[in-house]
Amino acid sequence: MAKRDFLAISDFTADEVYATLERAHRLKAGEDPRRPLAGKTLAMIFLKSSTRTRVSFEVAALQLGGHALFLSARDIQLGRGEPIADTARVLSRYVDAILFRGFDHADAEALARHASVPVINGLTDLLHPCQVLADCMAVQESFGRDLSGIVVAWIGDGNNVANAWLDGASRFGYEIRLACPEGYEPAREILERAKTRARVHFMRTPAEAVEGAHVVATDVWASMGQEAEAEKRRVAFQGHYVDTRLMERARPDAIFLHCLPAHRGEEVAPDVIDGPRSRVWDEAENRLHVQKALLIALLKENAD
Ligand code: CP
Ligand code: NVA
Repeated sequence: MAKRDFLAISDFTADEVYATLERAHRLKAGEDPRRPLAGKTLAMIFLKSSTRTRVSFEVAALQLGGHALFLSARDIQLGRGEPIADTARVLSRYVDAILFRGFDHADAEALARHASVPVINGLTDLLHPCQVLADCMAVQESFGRDLSGIVVAWIGDGNNVANAWLDGASRFGYEIRLACPEGYEPAREILERAKTRARVHFMRTPAEAVEGAHVVATDVWASMGQEAEAEKRRVAFQGHYVDTRLMERARPDAIFLHCLPAHRGEEVAPDVIDGPRSRVWDEAENRLHVQKALLIALLKENAD
């Protein structure tokens, strides 16, 4: 059977993404105690910092009976210039899957192209698909399994998380409304692809975007790798701020999501992220469950 990668939500069909979340719900409920990764190793390459992705994947592999290896750029030859292709070929001789967190999405694609084992995108500058799978699980926990009637409002940067929400819309079927400052829109190729397959709307203001929304989501103004632009971005993103007044425009049962880490007082008010509508801790927990489901899906021959 040909190996599968997970670099984007749209690498899976709608049936596959919904089935992955179904399995994640079962795992969260403790209903699937098998150890399908027994004897399997996940290599985890991190070129950027991480708390949630690193820990949740490591724990996921362990709880499924497998093992995870944390490989930071500082420690492996990739960080000293060994080609991605060679790294992919060599790791494929040792491990059963590779998780990659890096900068250029083309690096993740090159890794996947040259690896003979599944490659999972643990965040690139373009996409953060594992995050949005976990986010969709949190949305299901509030509004039910079928996401086709859901309206998601994205406030702020058209970054990797925004792109993943857009990419996910074509599979989960939710509507997405974006309020991004001018010049900080999502990646053109993701946007164009999403627009042909999903309900995508650009709104002039955050207030318009959240009107009647089920989900209000945001992220930091400057992502990893954009530290030098932080000051410029702080000016550009004024007004793209999720506070209780903005949340009041959404549905009365609307939830707030943020992938974390968050900057309280910048993109989100403390009383929103720490308030009753926030689901950020469930969202973070769900990373563990969806990634276990994802590992099982990708290494399926051992799971069924
Ligand atoms: N949300 C997320 O991916 O967090 P980390 O950067 O801590 O992995
Ligand atoms: N957009 C953020 C997400 C962090 C999980 C970043 O790329 O830094």
